[in-house]
Amino acid sequence: MLLSLLVLGLLAPSLILAADPCNPRYYPDGMVCVCDELWCDTIDPLTPTPNGIVQIFESDRDGNKRFVRRLQSFNGTEDPIGQVWNVILQPTQLHQEMLGIGGSFSDAAALNPGRLSPKMLRDAYTSFYGATGAEFALGRITISGSDFSTRPYSYDDVAEDIGLDSFNLVDEDISFKIPQLKLARELAAQDVKWYGSSWAPPAWMKTNGIVNGNGTLRDGPGSAIWVLFEILGQVVQNEPMTGFSETFPWNTCGFTAAMERDFIVQHLGPNLRAAGYNTPTNFSLMILDHDRAHVQNWTETILADPISNEFVAGTAVHWYFSEQVPMSVYDEIVARFNKFVLLTEASMVFGEDPVGLGSWYLAETYMQDIASTTQHSVAGWTDWNLALNMSGGPTWAGASERSAPIIVSDDASEFYKMPMYYALAHWSKFVVPGSRRMATVPVFPGTSDFRVTAFLRPDGGVTIVSYNMLMEDQVLNLTVPNKGTIKIRVGAKSFNSYLYY
Ligand SMILES: *[C@@H]1O[C@H](CO)[C@@H](O)[C@H](O)[C@H]1NC(C)=O
Ligand SMILES: *[C@@H]1O[C@H](CO)[C@@H](O)[C@H](O)[C@H]1NC(C)=O
Ligand SMILES: *[C@@H]1O[C@H](CO)[C@@H](O)[C@H](O)[C@H]1NC(C)=O
Ligand SMILES: *[C@@H]1O[C@H](CO)[C@@H](O)[C@H](O)[C@H]1NC(C)=O
Ligand SMILES: *[C@@H]1O[C@H](CO)[C@@H](O)[C@H](O)[C@H]1NC(C)=O
Ligand SMILES: *[C@@H]1O[C@H](CO)[C@@H](O)[C@H](O)[C@H]1NC(C)=O
Repeated sequence: MLLSLLVLGLLAPSLILAADPCNPRYYPDGMVCVCDELWCDTIDPLTPTPNGIVQIFESDRDGNKRFVRRLQSFNGTEDPIGQVWNVILQPTQLHQEMLGIGGSFSDAAALNPGRLSPKMLRDAYTSFYGATGAEFALGRITISGSDFSTRPYSYDDVAEDIGLDSFNLVDEDISFKIPQLKLARELAAQDVKWYGSSWAPPAWMKTNGIVNGNGTLRDGPGSAIWVLFEILGQVVQNEPMTGFSETFPWNTCGFTAAMERDFIVQHLGPNLRAAGYNTPTNFSLMILDHDRAHVQNWTETILADPISNEFVAGTAVHWYFSEQVPMSVYDEIVARFNKFVLLTEASMVFGEDPVGLGSWYLAETYMQDIASTTQHSVAGWTDWNLALNMSGGPTWAGASERSAPIIVSDDASEFYKMPMYYALAHWSKFVVPGSRRMATVPVFPGTSDFRVTAFLRPDGGVTIVSYNMLMEDQVLNLTVPNKGTIKIRVGAKSFNSYLYY
């Protein structure tokens, strides 16, 4: 007791918790933290602790905790009750280097915060990118329209405008996305990696003449249209395989793996380099940007080709419709091609009410996927729309509304931080870019209901993220060579991040 008091005394400066707590509001499916003109909860920046001390940050469903911090020591006397999970860290066995965690700037994700007052807008972006927020490290930017736009459009909707005389950014960019990107960059706690993704080129450049439905780029490699598509700055085609579905409801442009390979080899790759973008060294050209089901075929066609391989930095994957293909495909392609895999889109829908205010279940689904993808060589995870409205929109595509980590109220006098926001923060604030995943014994500790994933941070700290989806407390019995053993209570229905130096 005396010892722990002394230790706490030594730690006093970092123990002064300046964080503003959650202002809770309860809905049938759970709790949100309310932000308004006067209040918005924060999370303290992380500070190192002396050798032997572990900081434990906990969020839970039933106790309504959000990033509540406590301290514990290796070799301590704590003996919590519950099923024991033995995990031994292997600090010298390191896996993939992480790019980080983040979210996406669709039109909807900028239009919704755009309705907030300047003070609340700042609070929203501090919550995502700031030092007193989740410290996101990734930002995905839609290039022109997507399903989460209020209308179908492109940057040049004048038919057959081969000279691109009418090419222009739109009000969604000028008044919303660009100012908010600048704000996020100003507030960011770390160097954020921004990347773009194109849903559809101008409709007149497609075989079917509309932004949605089944259609590919007109003509073929070497044609004026393919040159134009490249000039428009298309970096990655979002969900290229959707462009072969006749009824596909929103912006798309079909590419087979072979078409994307030819586009990279004949157009995008050489011309990016000619323009001074040294891909893949200083500019990360990514392929696919679609579900895991396509990973095998696309990497086989594009990365196994020695010429296109040279231009590509990594493979972008989405989380939809992929259950039939095991995540071990990511381990295989990383081992084979030595290029990163980045998850570039995930989103949840609660049910008939797509938003599900306060839903813990949505957040657990994110925790599960981030844990299992990172345990299978994936280097980062990007959520879809950062912020949506009370109906999960706006979207022009009909019936595609989703939930999001921040929901903006109808009159924009409040916004709500969903449990999903805290789930993301349990990763993003801790698993910063440059972290390496650390091996453990057992290799995949836990089950799909209780998982433990460890990382070595570039500042030398070790961070561990766990979740417990079970209705009872569990015990994490963690052993670290040269540090000792620590028995940690992992609360029922909780998310946890641990940090020690
Ligand atoms: C915990 O005990 C182990 C084994 O006795 C020892 O090597 C380690 O230094 C101890 N850790 C701390 C923080 O005292
Ligand atoms: C779209 O699909 C329909 C039905 O399969 C087909 O007849 C048509 O040629 C396709 N259109 C394009 C532009 O690929
Ligand atoms: C790319 O990186 C190299 C060294 O890593 C540097 O010399 C070069 O100037 C960079 N090019 C650009 C366009 O940033
Ligand atoms: C992968 O390619 C094979 C052979 O071309 C094809 O039969 C299969 O349908 C493709 N798989 C997917 C998921 O597209
Ligand atoms: C909210 O989203 C719904 C569904 O897409 C849309 O109909 C509505 O216009 C949006 N409202 C606002 C204020 O953005
Ligand atoms: C915790 O782990 C240590 C080291 O692996 C082991 O000796 C100990 O028996 C474990 N404790 C429990 C309760 O399983």
